[in-house]
Amino acid sequence: MSQSGHKLTSIDTLLTEEREFKPTAKFQAQANANDQEIYEKATSNPEAFWERYARELVWRKPWDKVLDWNPPDSKWFVGGKLNITESCLDVHIKTDARNKAALIWEGEPGDKRTLTYWDLYREVCRFANALKSLGVKKGDRVALYMPMIPELVIAVLSCARIGAIHSVVFGGFSAEALSERINDAEAKVLITADGGYRRGQIVQLKHDADEALKDCPSIEHVVVVKRGNFPIHFQENRDHWWHRLIDEADFNCPAEEMDSEDPLYILYTSGTTGKPKGIMHTIAGYLVGVYATTKLVFDLKPNDCYWCTADIGWVTGHSYIVYGPLSNGATQVMYEGAPNWPDPDRVWKIVENHGVTVFYTAPTAIRAFMKWGEKWTVKHDLSSLRLLGTVGEPINPEAWMWYHKHIGGEKCPIVDTWWQTETGHIMIAPLPGLITTKPGSATQPFPSIKAAILDDDGNEVEHGGGYLAILEPWPGMLRTIWGDHDRYIETYWSKWKNIYFPGDGAKIDKDSYYWILGRIDDVINVAGHRLSTMEIESALVDHNSVVESAVVGITHELKGQGIVAFVTVGGDIRTSPELVDILKAHVVKKIGALARPEQIIFAHDLPKTRSGKIMRRLLRDIASGSVLGDVTTLADPTVVEELKRKYEED
Ligand code: WTA
Repeated sequence: MSQSGHKLTSIDTLLTEEREFKPTAKFQAQANANDQEIYEKATSNPEAFWERYARELVWRKPWDKVLDWNPPDSKWFVGGKLNITESCLDVHIKTDARNKAALIWEGEPGDKRTLTYWDLYREVCRFANALKSLGVKKGDRVALYMPMIPELVIAVLSCARIGAIHSVVFGGFSAEALSERINDAEAKVLITADGGYRRGQIVQLKHDADEALKDCPSIEHVVVVKRGNFPIHFQENRDHWWHRLIDEADFNCPAEEMDSEDPLYILYTSGTTGKPKGIMHTIAGYLVGVYATTKLVFDLKPNDCYWCTADIGWVTGHSYIVYGPLSNGATQVMYEGAPNWPDPDRVWKIVENHGVTVFYTAPTAIRAFMKWGEKWTVKHDLSSLRLLGTVGEPINPEAWMWYHKHIGGEKCPIVDTWWQTETGHIMIAPLPGLITTKPGSATQPFPSIKAAILDDDGNEVEHGGGYLAILEPWPGMLRTIWGDHDRYIETYWSKWKNIYFPGDGAKIDKDSYYWILGRIDDVINVAGHRLSTMEIESALVDHNSVVESAVVGITHELKGQGIVAFVTVGGDIRTSPELVDILKAHVVKKIGALARPEQIIFAHDLPKTRSGKIMRRLLRDIASGSVLGDVTTLADPTVVEELKRKYEED
């Protein structure tokens, strides 16, 4: 729904969930956070709260000042010098963690690799030297387009080791989406693989990368991991095999000394316009944020076996596969492929085989597990699990209960974690030893985070619905949109003065629990992936038969939201089922398979206000089959009637 047209009264999903789950005394006694005072102390002195965790990390030079807040620009741990990889690797190889498994990896076909902290340290140093040999220097951008293999973690950390800025592009994005991201960041090197496995198929990453690179003048070198033995085109002088490069590289690579506020990475995310936003994070605040949240929310202990099922192409993988768990010295499982390959019990098999104790996934996955049924979960002993988490979209209370019962054996706390690419780390979530959970609620802000529900004018809503807002800066907050600081200010800081606007609607209940209701801007959340309706519209209009299009999200049983596109074609174009397929394929080509519309509806015209704005609210009503909303402001009310008829015929 467009922000301007949004009325708070339309946030009417006031759930009446009454079930509550108190932490058990047993869990509380062993929890990393088990004293309620943590909240009060953090509220009264947020800087001291973060500083305590900063002290547990590795610094070359400590900070002079915790926070410099010049809204909307923040600097954290000002004057500090560090290299993030020293907190993720070097520190552990000096302790008992040296020979402990850092990554227990499984490929989709069943191949396995385990890297200890020592192994990971050595591989990172070696590949960091390889990057140097290609001329990569501090501040250069390196793009990554890779499958979920250990080399992805190694490549990310190698960039950080030498002060290069990584920009990971999810392997499911198309060649065009990749080239747009490479060009925006002006990346010098691309790291990819000959391919990857997904649901028994080969994902042709190198092939798509070659397509993308036809139009990427900044790329000087391409590094290719040999994942399979997939036939690829190899361009001499530009392309290099990963294994050949590291063969020649030294194992010793001193970490580059970085400033707290030097950039760590760029990660693109969909905004309300067609152009993706390059969310930029800096080093120290981000590290402290992901370190502390991993420790307290996931309650990680040295003997845990943690598994986050996200892809490193998304922020969840950056924060809660790479930097959070590794800075905590965790042992974690990493899996390459689909959750239902070769059978729908793959995930539970992995949990059983490795004795996973902490498991973090997305509601869309949980709904799929529910659909596949308990016959797949009962085949495996899941009793090693002690804590479960979710992220990415609101979780339906029924999915929460299923997760609690069939995966958690009714004994595991569930941490529903609200945060965003922009926030860098978890912002609203229970501390599992302290907070009573309610199915469907992310519960309370993390200690020191100052959240609120506000109305359009910035007044606080004490009970009921409104916009989610963050009132004070936090260490992992994005610092800018790459190359577009004005857009940063406009997108996040212009709704209210000096208050961060995340773009989500939420409600707060009588116990001050937060219930996130989802996006209120033109962003839709398909299977936990953020997509901009504008981006999909632009992809459709890019096709020569289309003159106009409007895209809306509808409720989808598994994916949370699905995409419905209303399309007006040129006067001499005939609509047909073939054209539907062609247009769907065109969207896949422009953005990636994750953006494929569920349905395309042809229309002579789209409903517009008299000022010419497309009325998405009406289209959403039509697409979700609900009663028509107010049409009095419509320029030509018959358009809606016609559309509605068409949709029903479809
Ligand atoms: C949504 C993912 C409800 C929300 C870490 C947010 C959630 C967007 C939750 C960010 C949650 C994320 N409950 N909604 N626990 N977590 N969201 O940038 O709409 O991919 O704005 O970051 O996902 O998605 P992003």
